[in-house]
Amino acid sequence: MAGSHGSGPTSRKRSGAQSARTGSSRGAALSVGERRGGSFYGRRKGKALRPGQRQAVKTLLPILLIDLGSAPPRKLASLFPVPVLEIRLEIGFGGGEHLLHGARTHAEVGFIGVEPFANGLAKAVTAVSREGIRNVRLFDQDAALLLDWLKADSIARIDLLFPDPWPKKRHWKRRFVNQDNLGRILRVLKSGGEFRFATDVESYAEWTREEVARHGKLITSHDSEAPWDDWPGTRYEAKAARAGRGAKYLSFRKTQ
Ligand SMILES: C[S@@+](CC[C@H](N)C(=O)[O-])C[C@H]1O[C@@H](n2cnc3c(N)ncnc32)[C@H](O)[C@@H]1O
Repeated sequence: MAGSHGSGPTSRKRSGAQSARTGSSRGAALSVGERRGGSFYGRRKGKALRPGQRQAVKTLLPILLIDLGSAPPRKLASLFPVPVLEIRLEIGFGGGEHLLHGARTHAEVGFIGVEPFANGLAKAVTAVSREGIRNVRLFDQDAALLLDWLKADSIARIDLLFPDPWPKKRHWKRRFVNQDNLGRILRVLKSGGEFRFATDVESYAEWTREEVARHGKLITSHDSEAPWDDWPGTRYEAKAARAGRGAKYLSFRKTQ
């Protein structure tokens, strides 16, 4: 899952989906995600799933997946089969280390995890199944679609941890943080809610500070080289650290 700092979003090899082109005559051809006007440019599948993962995906994933074809429930907490006091959303959870740590340690919180990459999703579903975790729901497409589906003022915290870095300047427009997605995030956050962002790419940290400032509706509450308390780490972060790259951890609050 960890991102290379080459041209692609992550260290995964480019797949057919990722490199599929529209035949546009523009200098840089459009990717599938871009053609749809979405925020997802990565690939959806990697190596074959293990039998246990295939089984968990077959039996449990349909139950955990949020269906955008139905209207969101009046009380979002009713998405969970157990009572939850607040709901957090993690965008691009990768292998699910951070998402699952949250779910294990905060039974009173409902967690919605978004990950379009099938192998990451399968890992999370397998752990949820094995451990009998009840406070997790999942979504397997572009997080922008889920943000548009969610009711306003419904989410206490949104985590975007080590999003695909798109380090090349000509790809910066593919970064998940942009004015449209900040608007989506702001809409669904509760008043006082927090947007967390982490990256090992200095230009993305700076980009995010600037985009948030331009947006003007979120207040910086954390900007540090140290992560938040009770931080389990993520796979991508560990890979970056092994390569000698530190990270920046930023939090922004919705004040009204
Ligand atoms: C570099 S990986 C980081 C994964 C994980 N957060 C970590 O720190 O290990 C970024 C992840 O974001 C996912 N992603 C990319 N665009 C997305 C989008 N529009 N909506 C949801 N997830 C997305 C990718 O599939 C990928 O798994």
